[in-house]
Amino acid sequence: MTAHIPGYTYGTAEVATSPISVDDFAKLKLATLFGDDDVRYLKMSHDVLKGQVEEILDVWYGFVGSTPFLLHYFTKASDGQPNMDYLGAVRKRFGQWILDTANADYDQNWLNYQYEIGLRHNSIKKNKTDGVDSVPIINLRYIFALQVPITTTLRPFLEKGGHSSEDVDKMQDAWRKSVLMQVILWSQPYIRDNQF
Ligand code: HEM
Repeated sequence: MTAHIPGYTYGTAEVATSPISVDDFAKLKLATLFGDDDVRYLKMSHDVLKGQVEEILDVWYGFVGSTPFLLHYFTKASDGQPNMDYLGAVRKRFGQWILDTANADYDQNWLNYQYEIGLRHNSIKKNKTDGVDSVPIINLRYIFALQVPITTTLRPFLEKGGHSSEDVDKMQDAWRKSVLMQVILWSQPYIRDNQF
């Protein structure tokens, strides 16, 4: 179904095993007060968001594209200009990520792909998936920071599903917790041994 997205290797043997187990992740869920209701509200958001993925990406890419110190991470090392092919290739996987996040299916495959996404932001794997010559690493501080614009700008899209404002609040809260847990998982390759 999603095999046509270049570089999207979720659930394949190409993805390394996460150092985080399903049991470890269960504790992270408890620590962020993420419960079964959050899974339910994420799945509710799936139906609301699935027809709006391109519009959501337009907003997120608009933000990154108009913020030079963020667009920097998509530029070519040779001339410092944005690499449009790189932006386009990552955009497709980002769209799939919206649906995967809303799908909220937390098995070892999901954890392994979280590990992969962290490696792809870090110098260990950045640029390799798309074979590009861009800057070598995304600084961790901005990965944490982007949780805020990503989950804030999602709200108008969540509102379009015709659900009550209470349900919209709960979908947005579940998204906030999910993205927080994901960026925590992605930070792992950035943290010195045994300190994660
Ligand atoms: C909450 C924060 C963030 C989220 C949710 C996010 C999401 C994603 C996703 C889903 C992908 C594609 C993963 C895949 O290959 O399947 C990706 C890749 C990428 N992101 Fe982020 N990201 C975040 C922070 C950032 C920041 C701050 C930057 C800096 C501009 C950034 C730049 C990139 C780049 C350049 C890639 C491609 C990496 C590669 O070479 O493979 N991301 N991101």
